[in-house]
Amino acid sequence: VKKLARRHAQGGRPVARAAVIGAGIMGGGIAYTTALRGMAVRMKDIAPAALELGMGEARRQLDKQVQQGRMGREKADAVLAAIRAQLDDADLQESDLAIEAVVENLSVKHKVLADLQAKLRPGTVLASNTSSLRIDHIAAPLPRPADVVGLHFFNPVPVMPLVEVVRGKASSDAAVATATAYASALGKTPIVVKDCPGFLVNRILTPYIIAFCDLVSEGADYERVDRALEAFGWPMGPAYLEDVVGMDTGSHVIDIISAGYPQRMRPPERNAIRALVREKRLGQKSGAGFYDYDSAGGKPRR
Ligand code: NAI
Repeated sequence: VKKLARRHAQGGRPVARAAVIGAGIMGGGIAYTTALRGMAVRMKDIAPAALELGMGEARRQLDKQVQQGRMGREKADAVLAAIRAQLDDADLQESDLAIEAVVENLSVKHKVLADLQAKLRPGTVLASNTSSLRIDHIAAPLPRPADVVGLHFFNPVPVMPLVEVVRGKASSDAAVATATAYASALGKTPIVVKDCPGFLVNRILTPYIIAFCDLVSEGADYERVDRALEAFGWPMGPAYLEDVVGMDTGSHVIDIISAGYPQRMRPPERNAIRALVREKRLGQKSGAGFYDYDSAGGKPRR
């Protein structure tokens, strides 16, 4: 995989300045991981609270590294100073690569990416962290679809090694190479994948989550399902996984991917995840999902 990644990264341009749009679970993690590897980051959101949470999480991670003796205070301060949280578009035009990590909704992403691409220099890689939407659909209405790729990180970003680099029909070799080189520079394991709903990992994961919803609607206790899958050897069961992902994102992902394969997948008839969205139990990020949490982003009480 590493050898293939090196081949795909050939001809990629180095990234010194990155822009991250959306400072939620994923955007905050991408900004932090990028700064940790010595790049300057502009992190933009429309919600001041999201920016505060994103910066707070970066600070918490850095403090932990300092306390554990794995990083000096000076370095930790420099990493934090490399992230500039902003509500406006200041200096976004200087970015070598920009990533959007806003809600999983095609029209919102179109608006964000069109505004962003209007500011970027031609040839600047514009990446989407979408979990399930086709990159071709995302890129189609944009002025420079050749600059657009998918950069699908996994949650939590600082921990998960895999990054899917999604090559759309219009993506240029240079954009794929720069995105792959950037993911490698973050210490990740990039794989270049074809553009299809769910790409590789979520295409495999979605039928599993649908089967989980079916089990729950047939009366299974989600906590016992989690315990069984964890005893089977998986790091976390499906209910806890959806709490970590966020119920709103999880629900969009099921709808989009199952609609992409109507002959092979069908959305769950009774969808426990959508029911939790209606109850505003969005998972770990809101302090309650399948499980209750001590605080937003905290540990589950189970
Ligand atoms: P989130 O709900 O935690 O964060 C989304 C952020 O986008 C919010 O802070 C919101 O204020 C901001 N936002 C909304 N509209 C905006 C705009 N016009 N301009 C700037 N910021 C805006 O969502 P999360 O989980 O971080 O997901 C973001 C993207 O990453 C989605 O496309 C999702 O499918 C994808 N993803 C999510 C994963 C997960 O486990 N949660 C894993 C991999 C990808």
